[in-house]
Amino acid sequence: MNPDIRNIVILTGAGISAESGLATFRGPDGLWEGHRVEDVCTPEALSRDPLLVHRFYDERRAKLTEVVPNPAHEALAMLDHAWPGDLLIVTQNVDDLHERAGARRLIHMHGELRSALCAACGKAMPWEKALPSGSICDGCGKAALRPDIVFFGEMPYQMDAIDTALRRADMFVSIGTSGAVYPAAGFVQTAAHVGARTLELNLDPSAGSIYFEETRLGAASLLVPEMVRDLLA
Ligand code: APR
Repeated sequence: MNPDIRNIVILTGAGISAESGLATFRGPDGLWEGHRVEDVCTPEALSRDPLLVHRFYDERRAKLTEVVPNPAHEALAMLDHAWPGDLLIVTQNVDDLHERAGARRLIHMHGELRSALCAACGKAMPWEKALPSGSICDGCGKAALRPDIVFFGEMPYQMDAIDTALRRADMFVSIGTSGAVYPAAGFVQTAAHVGARTLELNLDPSAGSIYFEETRLGAASLLVPEMVRDLLA
């Protein structure tokens, strides 16, 4: 591996958690766990049918108790601990498998299932159990808690920190994401623009494959540990 690599940014998507047993978003039927994304993943859906949206995320949150990190999450956590340079894992996933594997330098750009967000005051709080519509915020006291999920049309979290890391990156790696959703799908171009090496690990070529210097096709549980071994060699 190139000894000039010091600062690494890693983007992960649903494909890294697929082998843990969590469904990806864009399955062959185009549905996410039986729902169209616009029915459960937009601010309009939340105001139109809060019971459906809350129940949908309650089910996803409950499912977390049945799954565990796989070798891909574990390898990234090992890299996070061992890598002496800057490293940032940016995940689009709302599961908690990266942190359960031990990753620390991590941003959940699309929110987290195990968090509730107050739509009135903006306070976020850890949330493990079901989140009934109308739950009370312990900050402002309003009945305004919603799943802490970045819906389509909302601004992803920590974009400034992500952009800063991308502009300092010597290497950008994208793992298990279809490249269908911006701004994450554009990170490769930002990184390439500053001269970073760009590598994609995915089961199939993503929508943005052409922007990567190198694409390796296969299961994340095999490709990620292999990449981490190379980087730490
Ligand atoms: N190993 C590697 N890649 C895999 C694996 C695997 N075992 N299984 C599936 N994949 C790949 C698929 O080939 C696909 O390209 O993972 C990708 C998953 O794509 P999506 O389902 O579109 O998930 P993602 O890219 O994370 O979606 C982005 O869209 O709906 C929104 O906010 C949601 O964060 C999500 C965003």
